[in-house]
Amino acid sequence: MLQGKKIVLGVTGSIAAYKAAILVRLLVKEGAEVQVVMTPSSKEFITPLTLSTLSGRPVLCDFFHSADGAWNSHVELGLWADAMIVAPATASTIGKMVSGVADNLLVTTYLSMKAPVFIAPAMDLDMFAHPSTQKNLQVLRGYGNNIIEPASGELASHLNGKGRMEEPGNIVTVLKDFFLHKASLSGKKVLITAGPTYEKIDPVRFIGNYSSGKMGFALANECALRGADVTLVAGPVSLPTPHPGIHRIDVESASQMYEASMEVFPSCDVAILCAAVADYRPAVTADRKIKRAVQSMTIELEANKDIAAALGGIKRKNQHLIGFALETNNGEINAREKLQKKNLDFIVLNSLEDEGAGFAVDTNKVTIIDKNSSSSFPLKSKREVAHDIISYLSKLLILAVVLLLPMHISAQELNANVTLNTSKVQGTNTEAFDVLRNSLTEFINNRKWTDYSYEEYERINCNFTFVVDGYSDDGTFTVTLMVQSNRPVYGSSYNSTLFKYEDKGIKFTYQPYDRLEFNEDNLDNNLTAVIAFYVYIILGLDMDSMGELGGSDFLNKALNIANNAQNLGDAGWRAGSNTNNRYAVIDDYMNGALEPLRRLMYRYHRLGLDTMYKDANSGRKIIADNMQLLNQVYEDRPLAYFTKLFTEYKQDELVNIFSKGLPEERKSVVSILSNINPSLSDAWDKILEN
Ligand code: CTP
Repeated sequence: MLQGKKIVLGVTGSIAAYKAAILVRLLVKEGAEVQVVMTPSSKEFITPLTLSTLSGRPVLCDFFHSADGAWNSHVELGLWADAMIVAPATASTIGKMVSGVADNLLVTTYLSMKAPVFIAPAMDLDMFAHPSTQKNLQVLRGYGNNIIEPASGELASHLNGKGRMEEPGNIVTVLKDFFLHKASLSGKKVLITAGPTYEKIDPVRFIGNYSSGKMGFALANECALRGADVTLVAGPVSLPTPHPGIHRIDVESASQMYEASMEVFPSCDVAILCAAVADYRPAVTADRKIKRAVQSMTIELEANKDIAAALGGIKRKNQHLIGFALETNNGEINAREKLQKKNLDFIVLNSLEDEGAGFAVDTNKVTIIDKNSSSSFPLKSKREVAHDIISYLSKLLILAVVLLLPMHISAQELNANVTLNTSKVQGTNTEAFDVLRNSLTEFINNRKWTDYSYEEYERINCNFTFVVDGYSDDGTFTVTLMVQSNRPVYGSSYNSTLFKYEDKGIKFTYQPYDRLEFNEDNLDNNLTAVIAFYVYIILGLDMDSMGELGGSDFLNKALNIANNAQNLGDAGWRAGSNTNNRYAVIDDYMNGALEPLRRLMYRYHRLGLDTMYKDANSGRKIIADNMQLLNQVYEDRPLAYFTKLFTEYKQDELVNIFSKGLPEERKSVVSILSNINPSLSDAWDKILEN
């Protein structure tokens, strides 16, 4: 997940600075490029030499190099990085980051940073608990930074409490998680209601409740971090907006919240109703303060509108609605009733019977309930609970696209038939297989692989057959992939095979609903790298069959993938180790050995086969003459795997074509084929027999 990611690690002067060394090592191990920036005082705790050795890059500390006066550009670092981590972050650096005291390279780098910033505070428990530190962290959160809360435990002062920098392994997990989910809600519009509502009795009194809004704000932050466009309709709370990208609408009463929500919802993909909305409001609001006059008084109440139910009533098929239920008893039964009554997609139940759940606290313990299932989560911080809820939502959204809607395939380059054969691993989690098959179909067929536009009839027919040889519940797969592509022969209903290959022992991990993503500059997923590799070969060879050596651009892309994939840890990519692995395949095609075979692609298919349906004799002659190109590859590189493979997958076609040929054509073709692939001599003999 961190493969190729560029990370700026800021280290400050804390006893915990030694953990920065472990952090660098872990990040580098994950494939990240790490640039360490140190504050002057951090050098008292750990030497730059240690960190530069581990990161493989000179550590930056000063504004200028002492040797030649060159400027260390914090601006460039801000543009270079995919993420910045400040770990450990002392109270002093945190204060400087808040107020912009740019007296060292770390703070200037932070101020120039374009990428997301993660801050892992480390300090004594009283320093951490001090209102000044807490306020500063709150401000940094408000600027969109991610605070990695310190853990509780023994501190350098030998006191026990909260302030110990989070363990490097956990920081890496936070970062991996961030990149995994970063774009999972991009392009989605999300409405969130949060906090209590106040229902006015008179100008100084109201009916309200204890809701602090913390859960709703944590959800808004989580959605914004994942790229969603968030509108937060907040009741009266004293919380800062947690992320700069959030559009916040402050309201006071249930009616105002209703109006705002009804206006925003129609343009949203998702609404999360986390507010504790008052069910009733005073039937009349007094203009003036009500005076104490009698011993008792009665306030007549009238019902507020149910926002969740109203949105449930106008919800479209592609919109999702999530509710909350805070219950004191019969939690699941009540929650299920609300799920159904309000037309929700799922409901989050928190029970006041659970310690640590509910209003005003920083923790929550929830159960997510949908029509068919319920999942309970342990007591966690509201931030972590928000992460769980939004992960659940993300899966639901992907599921809606992948499984529920009829698959929308626009005319991209490939018309792939994707099959997943799981007969060898029966009895395991079949949900993972179903979702994987659909995701693969969508990834291969819907992704735009080229800048060209293909008409429906121009799409290349191909098969991707995955045989699952091994699977374990943690999502580890071992598969054999069989790839084949075909090309129609002009003027006929006949298809000719252009590429066929079997690739064994491909390992990858896939959890249901993981997004299949591919970025050729940053390969971090073996499955999508393998698929992209074959897609480009299919595209390249198809182009080769249309114009001589016409597919070089695409085949070069496949070669690039093979070169960039060397550290994905899959033996199939290893250069120089095999004559029949992915690397060898593309190396043969691109580095000269198979060039005659590539030329044959054009002369055989375009000049030969396409002509054959107009004039059989001349088409056959063209192919027969050009079969010399195949022989040439064989003579130059007898071990080149594709020469033999070509004769295998063309076997029936060649027998069919040349059985009808002139005697000298038959002889010439049979002598070439028997030379290259004597094991199929029975088939070649048939050419001569007829
Ligand atoms: N809700 C809402 N508008 C209301 C009342 C509730 O949008 N006027 C939403 C809440 O935000 C929550 C869900 O409905 O997502 C359930 O809220 P809750 O108060 O538990 O439900 P009620 O229907 O009011 O049921 P109860 O009788 O338990 O109060």
